[in-house]
Amino acid sequence: MLASITGNTKIIGVIADPVSQARTPIMANTLLDEKGLWGAFVMLPMHVSAEGFPAFIAGLRALKNFGGAVVSMPHKVVAANLVDELTPEARLVGAVNVVRRNQDGRLIGTMLDGEGFVAGLACAGYSVKGANVLLAGAGGAASAIAFALAKHHCASLCIQNRTPERASALSKRITDVYPQVEVTTEIHATSHYDIAINGTSLGMKPNDDLPISKSLIARCDLIAECVIAPEMTPLLQEASDQGKVVHTGVPMLAAQMNLMLAFMGAE
Ligand SMILES: NC(=O)c1ccc[n+]([C@@H]2O[C@H](COP(=O)([O-])OP(=O)(O)OC[C@H]3O[C@@H](n4cnc5c(N)ncnc54)[C@H](OP(=O)(O)O)[C@@H]3O)[C@@H](O)[C@H]2O)c1
Repeated sequence: MLASITGNTKIIGVIADPVSQARTPIMANTLLDEKGLWGAFVMLPMHVSAEGFPAFIAGLRALKNFGGAVVSMPHKVVAANLVDELTPEARLVGAVNVVRRNQDGRLIGTMLDGEGFVAGLACAGYSVKGANVLLAGAGGAASAIAFALAKHHCASLCIQNRTPERASALSKRITDVYPQVEVTTEIHATSHYDIAINGTSLGMKPNDDLPISKSLIARCDLIAECVIAPEMTPLLQEASDQGKVVHTGVPMLAAQMNLMLAFMGAE
């Protein structure tokens, strides 16, 4: 195994702060091994603060054996302004979750979180088509999910966020592209949701507030997470205690792992 890392090994990574909880290195290295590509590529955690991120990205242009990186919290939105080129998906969402380094040193950003979320739900047997959806969050992951829900024909979308201006701005952007989807930032007293999604980072730390209140959980059928560690978040625990169907953050990552590796050239 050790001999597999040579002077020709390409480094790929996951850039986040914090990064110690990230499942991506284990999942990516296992998949690379299954494909016979471990050693040609190796994935490493890259612990980079928000302040250091622009300088780090600039440095990656000079690292000739850098294949690319998964970009995670809190860098996704900023990354969209730092790379040299965006795919149409990343441009639409205004955030990046994977960066590839081309041979000429140019960095290309794409966004796979939204498709990953919808595909993860589909793998578990749930469709977003025609669904009334409640989404907590308006950051990188939540924005990508919101666009993917609209693309896959959800009936309505209610976006809630700590910073309401971000929810309103996201709501307007979705309406501009998908006018047929009913998008709101208001919860009405009688609203019922087929699917509720936590797209915030709440749940990663033990004493975090619930991203969706207990009384609101009671008005939803299926509760889905983006948070992946812990796998069973307090939100999912509460929903499960209320007898709701729960869906963890793991299928969202698993569903996009192959696509992430392919974008970084590992195929
Ligand atoms: N399972 C997967 O494959 C997968 C993929 C992507 C992301 N994720 C997870 O999804 C989560 C969000 O990631 P991201 O990249 O979207 O991060 P991000 O762009 O930094 O967005 C963070 C979101 O969480 C909200 N938030 C943060 N702290 C909060 C608090 N104390 N109270 C209320 N809201 C708070 C933010 O609200 P403001 O706008 O008010 O700041 C924002 O909506 C993370 O846990 C990440 O690990 C999982």
